Amino acid sequence: MTLRTARLVLRDMSEDDLPALRAILTDPVAMTAYEGAFTEAESQAWLARNLQRYAEDGFGLWAVELADAPGEMIGQCGITRQRIEDDEVLEVGYHFQRAHWHRGYATEAAAASRDWAFRELDAPTVWAKVRDTNIPSIHVATRLGMTVRRRFVTRYRGVDMPHLGFAVDR
Ligand SMILES: CC(C)(COP(=O)(O)OP(=O)(O)OC[C@H]1O[C@@H](n2cnc3c(N)ncnc32)[C@H](O)[C@@H]1OP(=O)(O)O)[C@@H](O)C(=O)NCCC(=O)NCCS
Repeated sequence: MTLRTARLVLRDMSEDDLPALRAILTDPVAMTAYEGAFTEAESQAWLARNLQRYAEDGFGLWAVELADAPGEMIGQCGITRQRIEDDEVLEVGYHFQRAHWHRGYATEAAAASRDWAFRELDAPTVWAKVRDTNIPSIHVATRLGMTVRRRFVTRYRGVDMPHLGFAVDR
């Protein structure tokens, strides 16, 4: 899978992307909403789960590169199957290295992923599950045209986390 936007290229991740992925997942600031930095084992499991998603679903979180600096993964963004309480939804996810925040890249990549899901998966609705304290992510969801449709609590890493279920319809 390759998806291009004005400034970005989204492509399948591989084992070679572990160092770039680790730069996001082991950053305690970037991982605030996930209750802190991932361990090496958690980072490896994240990558393995994502490769499994490609095999099982045909899509997942993709590596994001700058179109004018190919080869360096600056973030991950894409579509995954997620559960919100008893429902399965298609979710857009986005996580970027801190050095690449505040340039509009997350919104640009997420908008392309949202439109890919509408187009290629015929998805009627795309969701974003956002911890209610994650203001930058709430801003991205809002810029994607999403509104809050649900409130729910997810237990993750031993913590009950209130979440907002943002969504936008095709
Ligand atoms: C969530 C996350 C990806 C948002 O990143 P972000 O940089 O705030 O969002 P964007 O890439 O859309 O950038 C928007 C900002 O770029 C600015 N910007 C600069 N140049 C721009 C351009 N050419 N086009 C659009 N926006 C631009 C916007 O004004 C906006 O500014 P602000 O940050 O002061 O509000 C980032 O905080 C992150 O990786 N967090 C950790 C992982 C995480 O929590 N993910 C979400 C889980 S639900």
